[in-house]
Amino acid sequence: MEVRGIKDRMTEIKAIRGFNDILPGEIGKWQFVENTAREVFEGFGFSEIRIPILERTELFARGIGEATDIVEKEMYTFTDRSGNSLTLRPEATASMARAYLEHQLHSFDPVAKLYCIGPMFRYERPQKGRYRQFYQIDAEVFGVDNPMVDAEVIHMLIHFLRRVGLERLELQINSLGCRECRPRYREELKGFLTKRSFRLCEDCQRRLETNPLRILDCKVESCQEAIAGAPKVTDYICEQCRKHFDRVKEYLAMAGLSFILNPRMVRGLDYYTRTAFEVISYQLGSQNAVTGGGRYDNLFQEIGGLDIPGIGFAVGMERLVSLLPAGKGFVQNPSLFVAALGDEALKEAYRIVSQLHLEGIRAELDYEGKSLKSQMRRADKLKARYVLIFGEEEFKRGRAVLRNMETKSQEEIPLQGVLNTLKKRIIGD
Ligand code: HAM
Repeated sequence: MEVRGIKDRMTEIKAIRGFNDILPGEIGKWQFVENTAREVFEGFGFSEIRIPILERTELFARGIGEATDIVEKEMYTFTDRSGNSLTLRPEATASMARAYLEHQLHSFDPVAKLYCIGPMFRYERPQKGRYRQFYQIDAEVFGVDNPMVDAEVIHMLIHFLRRVGLERLELQINSLGCRECRPRYREELKGFLTKRSFRLCEDCQRRLETNPLRILDCKVESCQEAIAGAPKVTDYICEQCRKHFDRVKEYLAMAGLSFILNPRMVRGLDYYTRTAFEVISYQLGSQNAVTGGGRYDNLFQEIGGLDIPGIGFAVGMERLVSLLPAGKGFVQNPSLFVAALGDEALKEAYRIVSQLHLEGIRAELDYEGKSLKSQMRRADKLKARYVLIFGEEEFKRGRAVLRNMETKSQEEIPLQGVLNTLKKRIIGD
């Protein structure tokens, strides 16, 4: 192969910073998480939707909010050859809402339960658990403002996280109020922070005018000091919002879910109203949110649609996968490796492996027919469960040796009917 020569002559091309390859050794975990999500979500009545990776920039600017970090400085935005401003999706909620409106899914059934799985893009400073391309599993319910749905969505999320094997997680919830009551809280908070503005970082000085709630979320130490004792949003929410929140808590308790009230949780997207929630893992370090979500009753209007309520969440897949145990079951190893010596034996090996492939059995052979020792080394490295050995002498006798690589036991089997014998051993075990 010429690969080495090409490498010598040219500079090696590497992936872009913050963009990761997910290699075959890891992919089993990803597939397990995705399959579990599909199974759990479908069971809760959700259907998959696939949305484009590129959208008009306006969708996110209006949907997520101009004064958010995402829209202000994290979007991958460019002008296409026709002069349109397009953006790689930084999240899925706005796109799903757009698709629901565009295809008038509400005319079929006003309630839509949708999920999607795929990559999102944000120009953030890469670090452990924070990337520029990252994957989300996103679930949304459109068309219901009943607090029962808030609890149901959270219940599904926690059930899913438990099903993939995560236990030590913390569910935090808050209510962010609505269009009517939040402005009053915003003013209170602004007044409180203005008196302490000398302590705020440069970004938060700016946020004081554009988006004071976001200051509650700032990790800079002096900002953390400045917000100590700040008014709590839940003390300012209106009667309707309070009732809604009380009922969410009641339904969560009915589902047996424990939670922590975090009145400082504000979320990084502007569309939220009322219920907001995060699931935190303290095993993750500074980027500790595995999931973020909440209710957004104004998003549809912001993107030019009808007055439709919504609620949902997105799980960060890199963070979730990093919490899974390294245990077995995630990596796919061959069920069989056929080690053959000599042209005739190699042809027979090819015939057997091809037949097994048609039956969906993962089987490998060494195409070059190298020495038996090197073929056995490879079978060992690939962690094959069985090796079928065609030594020249056995092959002439119409027989082969089948070795169980776990128990190290072996048996001689006739070549006649070999496929059936193999299937019995491999599938029958
Ligand atoms: P978000 O909090 O921005 O919310 O993201 C949700 C999750 O995606 C986070 O909790 C985290 O696990 C993961 N995540 C976010 N940014 C990164 C990154 N740069 N690298 C790795 N993982 C990341 C949303 O995106 C909302 N659309 C969630 C939602 C759906 N709200 C209602 N419906």
